[in-house]
Amino acid sequence: MNIHKNLANNRDFNKSKANFDSIYTQDDPREYYRVLYGLDYVIPDLAKAVFRQVASALAATRGRRLRVLDLGCSYGVNAALLKYPLDIDRVAGRYRELEFAGLESEAVTGFDRAYFASWPANEIEIVGLDISAPAVRYAEEAGLLDIGVVADLEARDLTPAEAEVVASVDLIISTGCIGYIGERTFARLLAAFGERKPWIASFVLRMFDFAPLESLLDREGFATEKMRGVTFVQRRFHSEGECAQALRQLRARGLDTAGKEEEGLMHAEFFLSRPAGEADDLSLEKLASITSGSNRAFGRRFSTLADDRLRFGR
Ligand SMILES: C[S@@+](CC[C@H](N)C(=O)[O-])C[C@H]1O[C@@H](n2cnc3c(N)ncnc32)[C@H](O)[C@@H]1O
Repeated sequence: MNIHKNLANNRDFNKSKANFDSIYTQDDPREYYRVLYGLDYVIPDLAKAVFRQVASALAATRGRRLRVLDLGCSYGVNAALLKYPLDIDRVAGRYRELEFAGLESEAVTGFDRAYFASWPANEIEIVGLDISAPAVRYAEEAGLLDIGVVADLEARDLTPAEAEVVASVDLIISTGCIGYIGERTFARLLAAFGERKPWIASFVLRMFDFAPLESLLDREGFATEKMRGVTFVQRRFHSEGECAQALRQLRARGLDTAGKEEEGLMHAEFFLSRPAGEADDLSLEKLASITSGSNRAFGRRFSTLADDRLRFGR
């Protein structure tokens, strides 16, 4: 397999996407949320439900607090949603307040640190890796990341210290990142692990071909399953040009765009890759599912306890 050619193909797809590079390199996330949430960027919110189910199935087998690596973590949006009882509307909405507009980045980071610390946190540790030093610094200082790693693993190997951190990770997650990164990054990450390999939970835009990465993972002893019958909205297309180009590329790949990209929305698919033996007992279908409406808040209601008794509670 030609690693260079596969990533180059995905990069060609990436060229058709709007170029938001500057929003990922500011000292705080105001521009990131203003631009992306302005385009209804909802994938971290939709991914949260799946990541939580995967994390809970994995925690049951590891029997300890999980350490998660968020690949292409940017300003730590996945960490915010996984750790705290927050949704993206709430987090992005913070920066719509006029009072936030004139602040120095340092002040924004300070307010955010206090804000996130004011919520009860889930027992989960998050390592974030991104090429953007300012984004990783913000996410660490705001308390979203327990450990931040600034690295471009398309271009270089891990340092020994980075490899040690990576080797301690149980689960690798990503949203909106595959396409920017590909087989080279994964080959380098996987080389850091010893006997205990991670699970890898990836949301991938349909414009990107996951097959080359899946082949690499297969050779490394991972079994990959795609969540069937469901796609996840990433965001609205930015422009007619971006939409038209994506439709051409998707159709050239033989994908049916009806009801999805034809409606002006980018869609992603979910892939779970696990060390082959660990995937045998519990299929993806059994460990994670999507229930329409499950992301909404509901009032107190009946639920069933392990011994089949009903209780009225949260
Ligand atoms: C579309 S953003 C997604 C960010 C975040 N996961 C989300 O869902 O909002 C892609 C991220 O990948 C990062 N990135 C791009 N190339 C990278 C590379 N070679 N290595 C690590 N991160 C990279 C960017 O800095 C950016 O934060």
